[in-house]
Amino acid sequence: MHVVKSTAGLSKADAYREMNSQLAAVLAGESSGLANAANMAAILWQSLHDLNWAGFYFLRGRELVLGPFQGKVACVRIAMGKGVCGTAAERRETVIVPDVNLFPGHIACDAASRSEIVVPLVAGGRLLGVLDLDSPSLARFDEDDAGGLSESVGILLQHSDLSRLVD
Ligand code: SME
Repeated sequence: MHVVKSTAGLSKADAYREMNSQLAAVLAGESSGLANAANMAAILWQSLHDLNWAGFYFLRGRELVLGPFQGKVACVRIAMGKGVCGTAAERRETVIVPDVNLFPGHIACDAASRSEIVVPLVAGGRLLGVLDLDSPSLARFDEDDAGGLSESVGILLQHSDLSRLVD
């Protein structure tokens, strides 16, 4: 069993470097997209502080459908363009929301969420889904998180066959 090492005491950039090297070590050698997305949600959840949700939505037709996650029960289907997830998916851009109450159309799965970051999964020009992190703190996520998490997503895409999760 792989033990996720603590990133406490490291700078934010070093913490992401450490987490992403652990992520690569866990995902290398396994190609199941479901297994890798599940372990990635667990690694993010254990490594990053101040989260109340961390997980995936995968693109099925014109909807994002809930994938592996850590946190409370979540909304299952999100239409393209809706909420923070659907907006990031449609734009194919990372969206950082410092205050979810100020984001028109934010979908509140857990009333405790105050801020959110959504990173799209794009491979070979094709949108596959999104990675979504929520926090109970305002303005929890910044450009350092966007950079670190986009590397995490790159590691997932490099090692995983997501074709069974997407159509
Ligand atoms: N808040 C998201 C919905 C997903 S949950 O946060 C897990 C949104 O507005 O798209």
